[in-house]
Amino acid sequence: MQKVVPVITVDGPSGSGKGTLAALIARELGWHLLDSGALYRIVAAVGIERQIDLNKGAALAAVTAGLDIQFHDNGARVDGKELGLRIREEAVSAGASIVAAHPDVRHAVLDLQLKQRRPPGLVADGRDMGTVVFPDAPFKIYLDASLESRAERRYKQLLDKGLAANLHRLLAGLRERDQRDKGRTVSPLKPAPDAFIIDSTSLSIQAVLALSLERARAIGLI
Ligand code: DC
Repeated sequence: MQKVVPVITVDGPSGSGKGTLAALIARELGWHLLDSGALYRIVAAVGIERQIDLNKGAALAAVTAGLDIQFHDNGARVDGKELGLRIREEAVSAGASIVAAHPDVRHAVLDLQLKQRRPPGLVADGRDMGTVVFPDAPFKIYLDASLESRAERRYKQLLDKGLAANLHRLLAGLRERDQRDKGRTVSPLKPAPDAFIIDSTSLSIQAVLALSLERARAIGLI
Protein backbone atom coordinates (compact mmCIF):
# COMPACT_ATOMS: atom_id res chain seq x y z
CA MET A 1 0.00 0.00 0.00
CA GLN A 2 1.21 3.50 -0.84
CA LYS A 3 2.24 5.55 2.17
CA VAL A 4 0.15 8.69 2.70
CA VAL A 5 2.28 11.81 2.36
CA PRO A 6 1.97 13.86 5.57
CA VAL A 7 0.75 17.45 5.44
CA ILE A 8 1.01 20.19 8.04
CA THR A 9 -1.52 22.95 7.40
CA VAL A 10 -1.03 26.51 8.62
CA ASP A 11 -4.16 28.66 8.32
CA GLY A 12 -4.93 32.08 9.71
CA PRO A 13 -5.68 35.70 8.83
CA SER A 14 -3.38 37.98 6.80
CA GLY A 15 -0.31 39.08 8.69
CA SER A 16 -0.53 36.45 11.44
CA GLY A 17 2.92 35.18 10.47
CA LYS A 18 1.65 31.93 8.93
CA GLY A 19 3.73 32.31 5.77
CA THR A 20 6.93 32.73 7.77
CA LEU A 21 5.97 29.89 10.11
CA ALA A 22 5.15 27.53 7.24
CA ALA A 23 8.47 28.30 5.53
CA LEU A 24 10.42 27.70 8.75
CA ILE A 25 8.68 24.40 9.45
CA ALA A 26 9.25 23.25 5.86
CA ARG A 27 12.93 24.14 6.09
CA GLU A 28 13.33 22.46 9.45
CA LEU A 29 11.74 19.22 8.23
CA GLY A 30 13.00 19.33 4.62
CA TRP A 31 9.39 19.20 3.34
CA HIS A 32 7.83 21.00 0.37
CA LEU A 33 6.05 24.30 0.85
CA LEU A 34 2.76 25.51 -0.62
CA ASP A 35 1.93 29.22 -0.34
CA SER A 36 -1.69 28.96 -1.47
CA GLY A 37 -2.29 32.70 -1.05
CA ALA A 38 0.21 33.26 -3.88
CA LEU A 39 -2.23 31.48 -6.21
CA TYR A 40 -5.02 33.92 -5.48
CA ARG A 41 -2.55 36.79 -5.74
CA ILE A 42 -1.42 35.52 -9.16
CA VAL A 43 -5.03 35.33 -10.38
CA ALA A 44 -5.68 38.87 -9.11
CA ALA A 45 -2.47 40.25 -10.66
CA VAL A 46 -3.21 38.64 -14.03
CA GLY A 47 -6.85 39.81 -13.84
CA ILE A 48 -5.77 43.39 -13.15
CA GLU A 49 -3.17 43.24 -15.92
CA ARG A 50 -5.73 41.96 -18.44
CA GLN A 51 -8.35 44.44 -17.20
CA ILE A 52 -10.83 41.76 -16.17
CA ASP A 53 -13.51 42.81 -13.70
CA LEU A 54 -12.46 41.04 -10.47
CA ASN A 55 -16.12 40.43 -9.64
CA LYS A 56 -16.47 38.12 -12.65
CA GLY A 57 -15.75 34.67 -11.26
CA ALA A 58 -16.25 32.67 -14.47
CA ALA A 59 -13.92 34.89 -16.53
CA LEU A 60 -11.25 34.72 -13.83
CA ALA A 61 -11.60 30.96 -13.50
CA ALA A 62 -11.10 30.61 -17.27
CA VAL A 63 -7.94 32.69 -17.05
CA THR A 64 -6.74 30.63 -14.09
CA ALA A 65 -7.24 27.37 -15.93
CA GLY A 66 -5.07 28.66 -18.81
CA LEU A 67 -2.14 29.73 -16.64
CA ASP A 68 0.94 27.58 -16.35
CA ILE A 69 1.80 27.89 -12.65
CA GLN A 70 4.82 25.89 -11.49
CA PHE A 71 5.58 25.93 -7.81
CA HIS A 72 9.11 25.39 -6.67
CA ASP A 73 10.50 25.67 -3.19
CA ASN A 74 11.55 29.31 -3.50
CA GLY A 75 8.32 30.56 -5.06
CA ALA A 76 6.60 29.97 -8.37
CA ARG A 77 6.86 30.52 -12.11
CA VAL A 78 3.85 31.76 -14.07
CA ASP A 79 3.86 31.10 -17.81
CA GLY A 80 7.61 30.55 -17.57
CA LYS A 81 8.33 33.79 -15.71
CA GLU A 82 9.52 33.97 -12.12
CA LEU A 83 6.99 35.63 -9.80
CA GLY A 84 8.11 39.05 -8.70
CA LEU A 85 7.20 41.25 -5.77
CA ARG A 86 4.23 42.68 -7.65
CA ILE A 87 1.89 40.12 -6.12
CA ARG A 88 2.70 41.56 -2.67
CA GLU A 89 1.47 45.07 -3.50
CA GLU A 90 -1.62 46.35 -1.69
CA ALA A 91 -3.78 46.55 -4.83
CA VAL A 92 -3.05 42.88 -5.55
CA SER A 93 -3.62 41.92 -1.87
CA ALA A 94 -7.06 43.52 -1.97
CA GLY A 95 -7.77 41.94 -5.36
CA ALA A 96 -6.70 38.49 -4.14
CA SER A 97 -9.31 38.55 -1.41
CA ILE A 98 -11.99 39.46 -3.99
CA VAL A 99 -11.02 36.74 -6.50
CA ALA A 100 -10.70 34.16 -3.69
CA ALA A 101 -14.40 34.53 -2.88
CA HIS A 102 -15.44 33.03 -6.26
CA PRO A 103 -16.23 29.29 -6.08
CA ASP A 104 -15.15 28.87 -9.74
CA VAL A 105 -11.73 30.31 -9.02
CA ARG A 106 -11.30 28.15 -5.91
CA HIS A 107 -12.23 25.10 -7.92
CA ALA A 108 -9.73 26.01 -10.65
CA VAL A 109 -6.84 26.16 -8.16
CA LEU A 110 -7.76 23.07 -6.14
CA ASP A 111 -5.94 20.49 -8.29
CA LEU A 112 -2.83 22.59 -8.39
CA GLN A 113 -2.79 22.63 -4.60
CA LEU A 114 -3.41 18.90 -4.23
CA LYS A 115 -0.52 18.15 -6.61
CA GLN A 116 1.93 19.78 -4.22
CA ARG A 117 1.49 16.87 -1.81
CA ARG A 118 4.73 15.05 -2.55
CA PRO A 119 7.13 13.00 -0.37
CA PRO A 120 8.59 13.46 2.12
CA GLY A 121 5.81 15.89 3.18
CA LEU A 122 4.10 19.22 2.58
CA VAL A 123 3.61 22.32 4.68
CA ALA A 124 0.66 24.28 3.24
CA ASP A 125 -0.31 27.77 4.31
CA GLY A 126 -3.53 29.62 3.54
CA ARG A 127 -7.08 30.00 4.80
CA ASP A 128 -8.73 26.65 4.04
CA MET A 129 -5.78 24.27 3.97
CA GLY A 130 -6.99 22.35 7.04
CA THR A 131 -10.72 22.74 6.48
CA VAL A 132 -11.14 22.11 2.73
CA VAL A 133 -7.99 21.31 0.74
CA PHE A 134 -6.22 18.86 3.09
CA PRO A 135 -8.93 17.89 5.62
CA ASP A 136 -7.03 14.66 6.38
CA ALA A 137 -3.81 16.49 7.40
CA PRO A 138 -2.50 14.93 10.61
CA PHE A 139 -1.44 18.31 12.02
CA LYS A 140 -3.37 21.54 11.53
CA ILE A 141 -2.19 24.85 12.90
CA TYR A 142 -4.38 27.95 13.11
CA LEU A 143 -2.26 31.02 13.71
CA ASP A 144 -4.04 34.13 14.94
CA ALA A 145 -2.91 37.57 16.18
CA SER A 146 -4.56 40.90 16.96
CA LEU A 147 -5.42 43.16 14.04
CA GLU A 148 -3.01 45.86 15.25
CA SER A 149 -0.03 43.56 15.59
CA ARG A 150 -0.71 42.07 12.16
CA ALA A 151 -0.87 45.52 10.56
CA GLU A 152 2.42 46.50 12.18
CA ARG A 153 4.13 43.33 10.97
CA ARG A 154 2.87 43.80 7.41
CA TYR A 155 4.10 47.39 7.52
CA LYS A 156 7.60 46.31 8.52
CA GLN A 157 7.64 43.50 5.94
CA LEU A 158 6.73 45.89 3.13
CA LEU A 159 9.34 48.45 4.19
CA ASP A 160 11.96 45.70 4.43
CA LYS A 161 11.14 44.72 0.86
CA GLY A 162 11.54 48.34 -0.24
CA LEU A 163 7.81 48.73 -1.00
CA ALA A 164 5.71 51.78 -0.03
CA ALA A 165 3.43 51.34 2.99
CA ASN A 166 1.00 53.32 5.13
CA LEU A 167 0.07 51.88 8.52
CA HIS A 168 -3.46 53.30 8.67
CA ARG A 169 -4.29 52.09 5.21
CA LEU A 170 -2.84 48.67 6.00
CA LEU A 171 -4.99 48.41 9.12
CA ALA A 172 -8.14 49.34 7.21
CA GLY A 173 -7.22 46.97 4.38
CA LEU A 174 -6.60 44.07 6.77
CA ARG A 175 -9.90 44.69 8.56
CA GLU A 176 -11.74 44.64 5.26
CA ARG A 177 -9.96 41.47 4.07
CA ASP A 178 -10.61 39.73 7.39
CA GLN A 179 -14.31 40.42 6.97
CA ARG A 180 -14.31 39.18 3.39
CA ASP A 181 -12.18 36.07 4.10
CA LYS A 182 -14.23 35.09 7.16
CA GLY A 183 -17.63 36.09 5.82
CA ARG A 184 -17.61 34.45 2.37
CA THR A 185 -19.78 31.42 1.77
CA VAL A 186 -17.12 29.25 0.10
CA SER A 187 -14.22 28.07 2.25
CA PRO A 188 -14.40 30.88 4.82
CA LEU A 189 -11.43 31.42 7.08
CA LYS A 190 -12.03 29.51 10.29
CA PRO A 191 -10.08 27.05 12.40
CA ALA A 192 -10.63 23.36 11.59
CA PRO A 193 -12.37 21.63 14.51
CA ASP A 194 -9.14 19.71 15.20
CA ALA A 195 -6.78 22.69 14.75
CA PHE A 196 -4.01 23.57 17.17
CA ILE A 197 -4.67 27.29 17.78
CA ILE A 198 -1.77 29.63 18.50
CA ASP A 199 -2.17 33.36 19.22
CA SER A 200 1.05 35.01 18.10
CA THR A 201 0.19 38.56 19.24
CA SER A 202 2.87 38.54 21.91
CA LEU A 203 5.00 35.64 20.71
CA SER A 204 8.10 35.80 18.55
CA ILE A 205 8.13 33.70 15.39
CA GLN A 206 10.83 31.52 16.96
CA ALA A 207 8.54 30.84 19.95
CA VAL A 208 5.67 29.96 17.60
CA LEU A 209 7.98 27.64 15.65
CA ALA A 210 9.12 25.93 18.85
CA LEU A 211 5.50 25.41 19.99
CA SER A 212 4.55 23.97 16.62
CA LEU A 213 7.46 21.53 16.44
CA GLU A 214 6.89 20.47 20.03
CA ARG A 215 3.29 19.66 19.19
CA ALA A 216 4.26 17.81 15.99
CA ARG A 217 6.63 15.66 18.06
CA ALA A 218 4.02 15.12 20.78
CA ILE A 219 1.57 13.67 18.26
CA GLY A 220 4.32 11.48 16.79
CA LEU A 221 4.33 13.16 13.37
CA ILE A 222 8.02 14.02 13.33
O1 DC B 1 -2.13 34.59 2.56
P1 DC B 1 -2.23 35.74 1.57
O2 DC B 1 -2.38 37.08 2.22
O3 DC B 1 -1.14 35.72 0.56
O4 DC B 1 -3.60 35.49 0.77
C1 DC B 1 -4.08 36.38 -0.21
C2 DC B 1 -5.60 36.28 -0.30
O5 DC B 1 -5.97 35.01 -0.79
C3 DC B 1 -6.33 36.48 1.03
O6 DC B 1 -7.19 37.60 0.98
C4 DC B 1 -7.19 35.27 1.21
C5 DC B 1 -7.02 34.46 -0.03
N1 DC B 1 -6.70 33.06 0.28
C6 DC B 1 -7.74 32.17 0.33
O7 DC B 1 -8.89 32.56 0.20
N2 DC B 1 -7.47 30.85 0.55
C7 DC B 1 -6.22 30.43 0.71
N3 DC B 1 -6.01 29.14 0.92
C8 DC B 1 -5.15 31.34 0.70
C9 DC B 1 -5.42 32.66 0.48
